[in-house]
Amino acid sequence: MNSLENIVQQAREDFAGAPDPAALENAKARYLGKTGQITEQMKGLGKLAPDERKRQGALINAAKEQIESALNAARDALSDAQMQARLSAEAIDVTLPGRGRGVGGIHPVMRSWQRVEQIFGSIGFDVADGPEIENDWTNFTALNSPENHPARSMQDTFYIADNDTLGKPLLLRTHTSPMQVRYARMHQPPIKVIAPGRTYRVDSDATHSPMFHQVEGLWIDENISFADLKGVYLNFVRAFFETDDLQVRFRPSYFPFTEPSAEIDIAFGSGPLKGRWLEVSGAGQVHPTVIRNMGLDPERYIGFAFGSGLERLTMLRYGINDLRLFYEGDLRFLKQFN
Ligand code: FA5
Ligand code: MG
Repeated sequence: MNSLENIVQQAREDFAGAPDPAALENAKARYLGKTGQITEQMKGLGKLAPDERKRQGALINAAKEQIESALNAARDALSDAQMQARLSAEAIDVTLPGRGRGVGGIHPVMRSWQRVEQIFGSIGFDVADGPEIENDWTNFTALNSPENHPARSMQDTFYIADNDTLGKPLLLRTHTSPMQVRYARMHQPPIKVIAPGRTYRVDSDATHSPMFHQVEGLWIDENISFADLKGVYLNFVRAFFETDDLQVRFRPSYFPFTEPSAEIDIAFGSGPLKGRWLEVSGAGQVHPTVIRNMGLDPERYIGFAFGSGLERLTMLRYGINDLRLFYEGDLRFLKQFN
């Protein structure tokens, strides 16, 4: 028979080695259960003489208490371990960066659009919006480019399979200039408006994109001159670029819808093209034929118009040398503006 000390020692080892509560309860049964070793010891007491029984009984009880306290310690250790395991399985790493929603940014060309509206708005220009699918008359004829006129080939046009009410194919507007006529036919002079929006041409290189943005400007009254165009436009670019230190030139040019006509160039002030001229705009005094197509008397009304490229203004503002960067969707490029 095992001595009591051996039984206690063995029980302690068994309990400490039990990997889970079920194993621990099985181990308990081996010592304290109906046929467990301590229980068997108790059963043996009856055979002993009274004195011996009392002495042995006290020893067995002491051993039983030690076993029970070892059992309780093992139970506590198991439930602690279980709790630790659960805590680490369900742990939240509070040092991880948050998984917030990505914040979008405003596209650099849209920033320019907003700036242009804000600047012209501050000097009393209305802002108008019009269709990107245009008819032949408004995009060309009303602007003094009759059919078969060579000036039409100045802009390579995307046509649409559908025709307008006159049987002419609809097209994607090649410039915002049709807005001059649309707006003027619905308003009375003085007319003072800008019309920013998307425009389309069969065109693609470092300074041309098939879809691009223009902003049209139009000021018609009884006495608006080319000098006013220069004043307004210089005032605009100084506000837009936030500097008076700009190289701007008005270069004589030709448009069927203006006379005289000019193209406006600005030199890069920064970036890889520093010092190089970039055309930003066409402009001029509105042609009398166009004034008539606006429903106005050219003997009485006169004024200027311009059509500026928003991508080009944005390129100059940030010193960007290739306009296609705006439309490649490369976040490394786009993120620099936000
Ligand atoms: C015109 O489109 C005229 N409608 C401008 C105008 C308006 C003249 C009113 C007179 C009175 P032009 O084709 O030059 O002109 O284009 C005007 C500007 O749009 C250019 O100076 C340039 O800044 C921009 N632009 C033209 N084509 C593209 C293109 N494919 N990609 C990016 N920008 C362009
Ligand atoms: Mg041009």
